[in-house]
Amino acid sequence: MPAAEKVKADFIIHNLASAVVFPEPYRGKGTIPGWRTEELKNASIAARDGVIVWVGPSASLSDEVQIAATARFFNGCGLTAVPGFVDSHTHLVYAGDRSDEFEMRVQGRPYLDILAAGGGILRTTEAIRNMPEELIFVETLERVEQIMQTGVTTVEIKTGYGLDLESELKMLRVIDRLREESMIRIVPTFMGAHAIPADRRSDPDAFVDEICNVWIPEVARQELAIFNDVFTESKAFSVEQSRRILKAGIENGLRAKIHADEVNVLGGVDLAVEIGAVSADHLLMTCAEGIAKLKDSGVIPTVLPGTSTYLMESHHAPARKMIDAGLPLAIASDHNPGSCQFLGATIIQSLAMLQLRLSASEALIAGTLHAAHALSLGDKIGAIEPGRRMDLALFAGDSFRQIGYQAGSSRVEALVAGGVVAIDRV
Ligand code: NIG
Ligand code: FE
Repeated sequence: MPAAEKVKADFIIHNLASAVVFPEPYRGKGTIPGWRTEELKNASIAARDGVIVWVGPSASLSDEVQIAATARFFNGCGLTAVPGFVDSHTHLVYAGDRSDEFEMRVQGRPYLDILAAGGGILRTTEAIRNMPEELIFVETLERVEQIMQTGVTTVEIKTGYGLDLESELKMLRVIDRLREESMIRIVPTFMGAHAIPADRRSDPDAFVDEICNVWIPEVARQELAIFNDVFTESKAFSVEQSRRILKAGIENGLRAKIHADEVNVLGGVDLAVEIGAVSADHLLMTCAEGIAKLKDSGVIPTVLPGTSTYLMESHHAPARKMIDAGLPLAIASDHNPGSCQFLGATIIQSLAMLQLRLSASEALIAGTLHAAHALSLGDKIGAIEPGRRMDLALFAGDSFRQIGYQAGSSRVEALVAGGVVAIDRV
C-alpha cells in the first residue's frame, strides 16, 4: 500500500496471540446490540496519540501502518488483548469495616433491616465523616490499583457516604484527586441521595429539598461530578423524591443514573425511562413489564451479579431475558462495603456467567462496550476499534475465555490506558 494511504501510528503492540474485537458493536439508542466476539489471531494494534488507529494481523502491519521513526513498541509476547474493562457502577470511596453486618446477614438478618436500624450505609457515613480526607484518598487509591490488576481501565465512583454537603464534597474531592493521580479514567457520580441520615428522618422531604436546592447546585458549580444517582427503594427514596432529585441534577447539567428494583419494585425503571436516565442499575426484581419499558428507551440496563451473590439472593437479575429482548445489557461490580465486596472485573465476568448465565462473549461485551455506554462513553472506549481510546487489558493465554473460567484468579500481564502502559509484568 502506498505510504500516503497508510494510517500513521506512534505506538504499536505487536506479537499478540489474539485481539478480541466486536463485529457488531452497539452504537446507541435505535441500534441493536450484537453479542458476537471475534478473536483475531497473531494480531497487532496500532495507536496514535492514545487512540487506536489500526488492528489486524501482525503480518499486515508494515503494509498498512506508517510507523513514526520515534514510535514506541510493546511486545505482546503471545498474550490476549481485550478492551480494558469498564466498571460503570462502584462505591469505591469508603471507610471502615462492616464484616459484623456480613455475618449478621449470613445468619438471616435482611440488608434493609440493618440500614433501618442505623447500620449499613449510615455506619459507613459515620466512618467517612471521621476519617481524614488524605487517608480516605490513600485507601481508595489502593483499591483503584487492585482493580487495575483485573484489567479495569475506566471506573465510575459514587459518593453517598457523606450525606451532608461538607462530607459529600470531601468524597468528591477524593474522587477528583484520584482522577488526577491514577493512570486509569475515573468517572465521578454524586449520590447524595443514598440514604436518609438518622437526624433527617423526621422530615425526609426537607432533606430531599436540600439535596435539590443546595447540594446539587454546589456540586455542579464546583464541576466535581458528571452523573447524579439515587437509591430508589423502600427505606430510602420514593419515586416522587427520586424524580425531584434526578430532575434537579439534569437542570444542573448532571446526567441521571438510578438504583432501581434492587429489593422492591417501586417504579424506578419507569422513572429512568421517563427522565431519560443514562442507566438503570441493579434490576434484580425487574419483570417482563420493566424489560418491555427499557426496550428502545436508550437507558442502559446495568446488572450487578456480585451484589445479588453477596446478598445471598436465590434470584438474580433477569439478564438472559434482557438479552433475548434485545437490550444492551451492561454488567458492573457495585463494589461497596456492605452489599458487595467482590472487587475488580474478572470475578464479575465469572459471576455474570455463573449466576446470570451469560456466555463468555456476552459477559465481555457487557463489561466493556455496554458498560461504556452506561457512562455515555460508548463511542470513545470499550472496544478494540479504530477511533477509540487505546485501553487494553492483556491476559496470559491465547483466548479471552480463560478470564471468566478462572473465577477471578487471573490477573493482567499488562494494562494499557490511553496508549500508556500502566502495568507491565511481561
Ligand atoms: O448499590 N444499594 C445501595 N447502595 C449500595 C450499597 C451500599 C452499602 O451497603 O454500603 C448498593 O448495593
Ligand atoms: Fe450501588
